[in-house]
Amino acid sequence: MTILQAIKEAAHFLEKKTALSKEECKIEADYIFMHILKTCKSKLYTILDEKISETKTEKINAILQLRLKKPLSQILNKHLFYNDEFYINDKVLIPRPETESFIDEILRQGDLFYKEKNRCVLLDAGTGSGCVGITIANERSDWQVIMSDISMDAIKVAKRNVLLSKYNNVSVICSDWLKPFAYDSLDIIFSNPPYISTNDLQIDKSVLDNEPSIALFSTEDGLGDIKKIIRNAKKTLSHSGMLFLENGCSQSLTVKSILESEDFTDIRVHLDYNKCGRFTSSKNKNG
Ligand SMILES: C[S@@+](CC[C@H](N)C(=O)[O-])C[C@H]1O[C@@H](n2cnc3c(N)ncnc32)[C@H](O)[C@@H]1O
Repeated sequence: MTILQAIKEAAHFLEKKTALSKEECKIEADYIFMHILKTCKSKLYTILDEKISETKTEKINAILQLRLKKPLSQILNKHLFYNDEFYINDKVLIPRPETESFIDEILRQGDLFYKEKNRCVLLDAGTGSGCVGITIANERSDWQVIMSDISMDAIKVAKRNVLLSKYNNVSVICSDWLKPFAYDSLDIIFSNPPYISTNDLQIDKSVLDNEPSIALFSTEDGLGDIKKIIRNAKKTLSHSGMLFLENGCSQSLTVKSILESEDFTDIRVHLDYNKCGRFTSSKNKNG
C-alpha cells in the first residue's frame, strides 16, 4: 500500500470511530504519519507514492487503536504550540488553540510596557506544560519570565519543556497562585486558570476522562480561582502592570465586573476565533 492510501485509510478509520470532524481526522492522520515516518508535512507530501512497510503500518494501527481512548497529543507525548513542539502527558492540560491565539496580544501590550519602563517581569500563573511562558520567553529575550504551578507533576513537565527555551530568561516555581510574590514585583501576569464549574454537565467526555481535574474545575461557578488571582494581582503588579486572563465563553462580562470592582482600568474583553469573549486584559492603577 502507498503512503497516500494508508493516510486515507487512517483518516477514514478516525472518521468512523471518533467524534472528530472530517478535517480534524485528516489533520490527525497526517500528524500520525509524520510522527512514524519521522518527517515534516512538506516532506510527507513528496513521498506519498512510496510504499509503507509492514512494521510502520503496525505502529500506525497501534496508535489508531489507542486514539479511541486518548487524545493524540497524549499518545505521542507532544503538542505543537506557536512555534515549538511541547512535551505533554496526562498531568497537564493539552494546550488549546484559543490560548495560542492570545500570545500576540500579550506581546503587543507587553512591548508598550517595556518601551515605557525598560523592564518586563512576566508571570505565567498555572503554567501547566509551560507553553505560554516558554513561548513568550522565546519571543522576547529581554523579558524575565516566571512560570508557576501548584501541581508538582505539572512543574516536572514545564521544567522538561524549559529545554525548548532559547535564552536564559525563564524560571519555574511551585506556588499557590500569587502567594509567594512580593508587593509590586510583577509587570505582567498571564493566567489560564481552571474555570469550569464543578456542576458543568456539558464538558466533553474526552476532556473529562483524560485531562487533570486540577486544570479544569473551579468553585463558585468556575470563578473561584479567577477571583483569587484578581484580588492578589492588585498587590503584586507594579504600577500600570497588566493582567491577562483566559476565561470560559460565558464568563467574560462577570470577569470584567470583578476587575472593575477591584479597581483595574483599561479593561478589555478579547474574542477568540469563535467570536467568544475568551480573554480580558486590564491594568493595575495601584502599585
Ligand atoms: C487550564 S490549566 C492551564 C495550563 C497552561 N497555562 C495552558 O494554558 O495550557 C490550569 C493550570 O493551573 C494550575 N493550578 C490549579 N490551581 C492552582 C493554584 N492554586 N495555584 C497555581 N496553579 C494552579 C493547574 O495545575 C493547571 O496546570
